[in-house]
Amino acid sequence: MVLRGLNISKKYSSEFSIKDVNIEVCSGEIVAIFGASGSGKSTLLHIIGLLEKADSGSLFILNECIFNQQKSTDRFLSKIRANFISFVYQFHHLLPELSVLENIVISLTISGKFQQETYIKAKESLEFLEILHLIDKYPHMLSGGERQRVAIARAIVANKPIILADEPTGNLDSVNSNLIWRKLKYLSLNKNITILIATHDNECSKIADRKIIMKDGKLLY
Ligand SMILES: Nc1ncnc2c1ncn2[C@@H]1O[C@H](COP(=O)(O)OP(=O)(O)O)[C@@H](O)[C@H]1O
Ligand SMILES: [Mg+2]
Repeated sequence: MVLRGLNISKKYSSEFSIKDVNIEVCSGEIVAIFGASGSGKSTLLHIIGLLEKADSGSLFILNECIFNQQKSTDRFLSKIRANFISFVYQFHHLLPELSVLENIVISLTISGKFQQETYIKAKESLEFLEILHLIDKYPHMLSGGERQRVAIARAIVANKPIILADEPTGNLDSVNSNLIWRKLKYLSLNKNITILIATHDNECSKIADRKIIMKDGKLLY
């Protein structure tokens, strides 16, 4: 088991955004969470991605990192995030003043990788997303689909075992979306990466090993 959440709840206001959510994701599995807007998908992904803390419940990430979120320090959570979790957002979050290559390299530098290796790895991941030719461009010069491919190249370059993707094809056409689904499937099958996706895109069903519906803050099994 790579991810396990037990009775995770979170409230932003008087209403629960997610309530008593139980979820397990196995190694190399692709799990897709479908649900209407406002059903709590992003909240759940942010909690599992350690970007936000749950109000209650427990989270287990890989066997050796078992913790109850309330008791974990921010330093510990950042370390887990840096080592194990890549997050892909609907909107690419690329840094506008950096080139494609620099956007990717900077994420590796943050993870503490050695410099020469970072350039090789950055190029490999751009090649994998079929955008090596964009290496010296800046985000404003790219189409939406190209930017999202760069964001995915950046997410996978550090080769972390878990990818969390929050509507990664949310604003893409079907050609770009399908490329992204295909690449994620490849990573699951060939690199055993565990992938949890929140999406509206029915095409994701084709690559998901398992689908879960989220409604009103709960997962319907
Ligand atoms: N930062 C926040 N502050 C206040 N309410 C929030 C915040 N994030 C999410 N919510 C609320 O939590 C509920 C679930 O939202 P969200 O997880 O974004 O759903 P989804 O991703 O499925 O659209 C919504 O009612 C939303 O308004
Ligand atoms: Mg969302």
